[in-house]
Amino acid sequence: MNKLALPKVSLAPLAGITDWPFRLLCAQLGADETVTEMISAQGYLTAPKDSYAYRDIMLTHEGEAPIIAQVFGHRPEYFCEAIRRITDIGDYCGIDINMGCPAPKVTGSGSGSALMKNPELARQIIKTAKGATYLPLSVKMRLGWDENSINVLDFAKMAEGEGAQTITVHGRTRMQQYAGKADWDWIAKVKQSVKIPVIGNGDIFSAEDALAMLQQTGCDGVALARGALGNPWLFAQIKQSMLGRETSRPSPEDVLKLALHHARLMAQWKGEVRAVVEMRKHFAWYLKGMRGAAPVRSQINTLSTLWEVEETLKVFLETKPSFH
Ligand SMILES: Cc1cc2nc3c(=O)[nH]c(=O)nc-3n(C[C@H](O)[C@H](O)[C@H](O)COP(=O)(O)O)c2cc1C
Repeated sequence: MNKLALPKVSLAPLAGITDWPFRLLCAQLGADETVTEMISAQGYLTAPKDSYAYRDIMLTHEGEAPIIAQVFGHRPEYFCEAIRRITDIGDYCGIDINMGCPAPKVTGSGSGSALMKNPELARQIIKTAKGATYLPLSVKMRLGWDENSINVLDFAKMAEGEGAQTITVHGRTRMQQYAGKADWDWIAKVKQSVKIPVIGNGDIFSAEDALAMLQQTGCDGVALARGALGNPWLFAQIKQSMLGRETSRPSPEDVLKLALHHARLMAQWKGEVRAVVEMRKHFAWYLKGMRGAAPVRSQINTLSTLWEVEETLKVFLETKPSFH
């Protein structure tokens, strides 16, 4: 029998970034699956009904790839009710539990990667979540809290035992945050330790990186976060490479065309004023690596209308920029 399925290539969650316009672009350019920004179980339940912040995070759009809702917290009872309600919305194809976030404001309350220091509580949370939804449940984790307490193998087995259907492993400890290199050897060890699919994550910035991770770890799919910033083409490039096809890089013109399209989607949603401000970081990512882009980035940070941004990019394109 021919095996048609390729490993999954998904967009990892990025707080403040993986909103619907960015997820939609990634989906249209080849992401098999995307994840919402992390949603606080407690915040979701206690925020005023239709609270602006939660409404924004939860919004989805027609044409998106299957979307997984990611939830974080430290109280099983909040997970239970939040996941029940999120499941009932009907927009998501899975629930992911965040056990990897290193931010002090998250770990300070015992949530995110702090749960790797408290496997019993993590177990209760996974068990409770499993009972609260019919959707596939996944857990995203790191290697452990620090280099002296790497427990990802036991933790992954525990998650599997409690009914997680997939796990995503970011090959760093909490203390490493995003520094140093992700250790893919641990991802390989996790893959050998559990029967459920393992998604590898950490330091995929090119199609070659993705293929190398798949080969070195035997993982069932890859999730990319920072590599997709300003480069949502990476999903398609990875898939082309998996099929042994040549990949091509978009021209600066194509990149900036997409950046403007992204800005228009954002403006359609949030209005022009907010969109121009929120798009500043994205424009910086889209312009990264283009010769002569530094002053353009600075200028965009001072502009307040889409028309001005468009004119600035038009003038820049007339200089025929190329990539470094
Ligand atoms: C700005 C930023 C926000 C992030 N937000 C989340 C999040 O909400 N939930 C989560 O599980 N991981 C989050 N991460 C971690 C990423 O999903 C990913 O695990 C990490 O960046 C490593 O992958 P990469 O090397 O492909 O970037 C975030 C990372 C960054 C840089």
